[in-house]
Amino acid sequence: MASPHRALFSIVTFAAGSVLLAWSPAPQEAPEGYAIANEKVIDRCSRCHVVDDDGRMSRISYLRKTPEGWQTSIRRMMALHGARLNQADATEIVRYLANEQGLAPEELRPGMFEVERRSLDHDYEGDSGVEYTCIQCHSMGRVITQRRTGEEWSLLLATHRGLYPLVDRQAFRNGGRGGPDSGPHPMDEAIDHLSEVFPLETPEWSAWSATKRSPRLAGTWTLAGHEPGKGPIFGTVTIIADPGDPDAFTTSTAYVYAESGQRVQRTGRSAIYTGFQWRGRSNPGAEDELREVMLVERGQSEISGRWFRGDYDEVGPDVTLRRVSGGAVVSGVYPMALEKGVATDVQVFGLGLTSSSELDFGAGITVESTNAGTDGSLRVRVSVMANANLGARDVYSNGSIAERAVVVHDGVDRIGITPETGLARAGGVVHPKGYQAFDAIGYDNGPDGEPNTDDDLNLGRVAVSWHLEEYAATFGDDDIDFVGHIGTDGVFVPAVDGPNPERSGLRNNIGDVWVVATLGDGGALSARAHLVVAPPLYMRWEPWREIESGRPPIGDER
Ligand code: HEC
Ligand code: HEC
Repeated sequence: MASPHRALFSIVTFAAGSVLLAWSPAPQEAPEGYAIANEKVIDRCSRCHVVDDDGRMSRISYLRKTPEGWQTSIRRMMALHGARLNQADATEIVRYLANEQGLAPEELRPGMFEVERRSLDHDYEGDSGVEYTCIQCHSMGRVITQRRTGEEWSLLLATHRGLYPLVDRQAFRNGGRGGPDSGPHPMDEAIDHLSEVFPLETPEWSAWSATKRSPRLAGTWTLAGHEPGKGPIFGTVTIIADPGDPDAFTTSTAYVYAESGQRVQRTGRSAIYTGFQWRGRSNPGAEDELREVMLVERGQSEISGRWFRGDYDEVGPDVTLRRVSGGAVVSGVYPMALEKGVATDVQVFGLGLTSSSELDFGAGITVESTNAGTDGSLRVRVSVMANANLGARDVYSNGSIAERAVVVHDGVDRIGITPETGLARAGGVVHPKGYQAFDAIGYDNGPDGEPNTDDDLNLGRVAVSWHLEEYAATFGDDDIDFVGHIGTDGVFVPAVDGPNPERSGLRNNIGDVWVVATLGDGGALSARAHLVVAPPLYMRWEPWREIESGRPPIGDER
């Protein structure tokens, strides 16, 4: 236990820690909790976490978390409580705990956005009161990616109160809630709700524990994806097993951005946690390094998720990998939108396609000619009959199907922007900029001819021109002159952080504006999205970054 004189933090820790560790569950009949079978965990952690007769360790045995969640705990043990671990220990311990006390795929799915570092407007449907209490400082994603006993939920919130004393005012008692006459205390409500909805033991976890194993992913996979601001990508990933470690792989990846023709090559390494959670890194150390967070589907023939820049989480593609089990495979078509009554040249992407590949686009579309491109794709001329049915179609080749690879339409009726609400952050001086990419999507009103109905057809990205307009929130609002600019590619680049002497009241370059896309002569079709340009994220509590980066974990330098 850290001694109270070491640092200010230690005083809090000392108080919170001695209480919290002493509160470990009293033995009951057939109590919950997982026995710890890893020597490193026992050796490095039992100084403070008591081992009971059944091999369970106080606190540790009563939780399940993602690898990131376990990394967070371990980092806190090092930073606040003086646990000493080197990189190899930390890696082994995170891996053991994430494998043995992880989440089942069904449990993780609703919280995937948290580990994929997606910036989105999440709506927790479980309980809006608890959501309000818990999203004051971090996203609900951090909460729904953990499972605990009721006692552990209550200890976690006690830790919050011990470590962040302001939490009481900021959230737990906000607006006088939880006073003597105003119903249950928000914290008790949260504990009750979370204990019921996210308990330690679940049927999902026992079922996954029974079948969980190191997945055999070696082989060739097609890659199809979409990067905001850049459009569709297609390529292949070769996954090679690590002979010394059934959960580790190396990868070599090649893909092309269909719109620009830009080609990319990557090599990477990855590890699998809990039998299905892919965590990797490609082109490590290079300027274009990407993190990879993906979910391996149970059939071990599909892997999907997100690749993103570590320093700019908002930049990177959504990807799906599909296993190639011999023969030719189609993975997608660009452009995907085919107009009725017109002949169009498209590129068919996939693997092993040749000019003699048999291609089937469904009734009403004929393949006029097929030529092999230099990049493995096929250049295909298709003509769509005037009476072809409107709608998305699967494309078939040599025993493989790419679902909804093309869509037949009769003209762009309207456009829309994704996301409808964006968030960028001023930066570039002290803090990194937070970019926001927008895509303009074309829509056909569909067979019913009515806009905004279920049969509307998404035609993919359309080429538009972009500009900003003032979102008049105050009299004489001038945000548009200061917040930044939008590029021809729909990527908003914020202005620098810090007070701006050019701006009245020395204000920062923050504010909100409309992002407007226009299509066609004289801007016949247009759409707009709301963009908020916020101050930088001054504090990012993401301690796993240090463990991942290979820098000595805090606590080891002493
Ligand atoms: C020097 C003492 C010390 C050591 C060594 C230590 N811990 Fe802790 N641990 C604590 C204290 C104090 C708490 C309660 C306060 C807190 O959660 O930060 C705690 C709480 C925890 C929790 C519960 C946190 C939560 O999610 O609510 C976990 C998990 C944990 N420790 C894991 C570990 C692991 C794994 C190790 C070994 C690598 C370890 N600890 C080593 C002192 C220690
Ligand atoms: C005052 C700000 C604040 C509020 C409000 C808050 N949290 Fe936290 N929470 C934090 C901080 C800061 C951390 C990071 C602690 C760390 O990593 O050491 C954290 C971490 C967590 C973690 C991960 C802890 C771990 O060790 O794995 C969970 C789970 C969590 N909070 C749940 C909740 C829940 C549930 C609520 C609502 C009842 C809540 N938080 C409200 C600030 C807050």
